[in-house]
Amino acid sequence: MQGALISCILILSFVSPSLCFKRSNFGVETEESTYNVMNYGANVDGKSDDSNAFLSAWKKACEAEGMQTLVIPKGKVFMLKNLVLKGPCKATKIHIQLLGKIVAPTKDQWGEDKTHLITISKVNSLTIDGGGYIEGNGNTWWETCKKCSRPRLLRFSSCKDLSVSSLHITNSPGAHISINNCEHAKFINMNINAPGNSPNTDGYDISNSKNIVFEDSTISVGDDCIAVNRGCSFIYATRIICGPGHGISIGSLGKTKDYETVEEIHVKNCTFKGTTNGARIKTWEGGSGYVRKITYENIILQDSRNPIIINQHYINKISNNGEKSLQISDVTFQGFEGTCADEKAITLNCNNNGCFNIKLDQINIVSSNPKKKAQASCSNVHGRVGQVIPKVPCMLK
Ligand SMILES: *[C@@H]1O[C@H](CO)[C@@H](O)[C@H](O)[C@H]1NC(C)=O
Repeated sequence: MQGALISCILILSFVSPSLCFKRSNFGVETEESTYNVMNYGANVDGKSDDSNAFLSAWKKACEAEGMQTLVIPKGKVFMLKNLVLKGPCKATKIHIQLLGKIVAPTKDQWGEDKTHLITISKVNSLTIDGGGYIEGNGNTWWETCKKCSRPRLLRFSSCKDLSVSSLHITNSPGAHISINNCEHAKFINMNINAPGNSPNTDGYDISNSKNIVFEDSTISVGDDCIAVNRGCSFIYATRIICGPGHGISIGSLGKTKDYETVEEIHVKNCTFKGTTNGARIKTWEGGSGYVRKITYENIILQDSRNPIIINQHYINKISNNGEKSLQISDVTFQGFEGTCADEKAITLNCNNNGCFNIKLDQINIVSSNPKKKAQASCSNVHGRVGQVIPKVPCMLK
C-alpha cells in the first residue's frame, strides 16, 4: 500500500506537481498548509497594528504538523509592534514568505516594550525569504534619541537550522538583526541599509552562537556591518560588501568581568567600501577570555580608514584588573588589496601581555589620499609577516 502510494506521488509529481501538494488527499499524515496573514485580520493600512493577525497565523502554522507556510503577501504594507513568534513548534518546518512590506511604528507610536520589532524564539527549521522589506523608521529615533536604547528590528533567539534569504532590512532604530544562542543559521542575499551616520545601527550582532553563515549580501549601516560578540564560534562571512559602516568586527569583548571566548571566525572575499574599519578585533581593558583562530582573507578595500586593526585598548576602563584583557592569538590577515583613507593601513595595538601568532601576508594597501603614505604600527604583537605593503617593521618573533 505504502509503495503504491509513493509511486502514485512520484508519477503524479511528474505529470502535475501541484496535485501532489495536497498530500492530505492521499491520507498521508504530513500536511502542507499555507496561512496567509490576510485571513487573520490584518489591516494593511500600514498604520494600525497588525501584530495580532501575524500572531494568529503564526500560531496555526506553528501548531500544525508537517511543513507549514506563513504568507505575508506582496503589494501590502503591515505595521507591527513587538511581535514575538515563539516555538517550539509542532511543525517540522516552517516557511515564512515575506513578499510584502513590514514597517515599524514611528518613535511615538511604539508601545511600552521598545526592544525588538520582531522576535523569533525557540523555533527550529525555519526558512524566511520572499524578497520583501522590513522598514524600521529609524529616522524618527536617531535625532532625538541618540544615546537612549533604541529597538532592533529582528531578533533570533535559540533557533536551530535557520535560513534567511533575499530580504531588505532598512533603517533600524538600533541594530538591524541580532542573533543570540542560535546554531546552524544562514543569511544569504540580504540587503541591509541605513545611513552611514545613523547611530549604532549594526547590520548583525551575534552572540553565543555557532555555525552561522553570511553570504552574498550588501550591508550599509552606521556601525559594524557584522559584530561578532561573546560565545561565538564557526562564523563565516563570505562575499559581503560592507560600507558605509564600521567593518566586520570581533567585539567589543571584555566589557564585563565574565570569561568571554570567540573562535573560528572566517571572513572571506569581502569588500569594505568607505568604512571606518575593515577587519577589526576590539577588546576592552580588564576583560578575560580569548579570541583565536580568526582569518580575514581576500579582502578588497576602498577608502577604509582602518582596514586592519586589532585594539586591545578599545575602551580604557578603570578597573582593578590592570592590563588583563582577552588573549588574542592565531589571527591571519591575508590577501588584502586596495586603499585606506589616510595613513593608517595596519594597526595592531596589543597590551603588555602581547598578541601571538598574528600573520600578515599578500597585503597591498596604499593610501587614496595623495598627501598620506600608508603605514603599519604595532605594539606587543608576535607573529609573521610575508609579502606586505606597507612594511611592517614592528612585528615581534
Ligand atoms: C574568492 O575569490 C577568489 C578570487 O576571485 C575566487 O577564486 C574564489 O573562488 C572565491 N571564494 C569564495 C569562497 O567566494
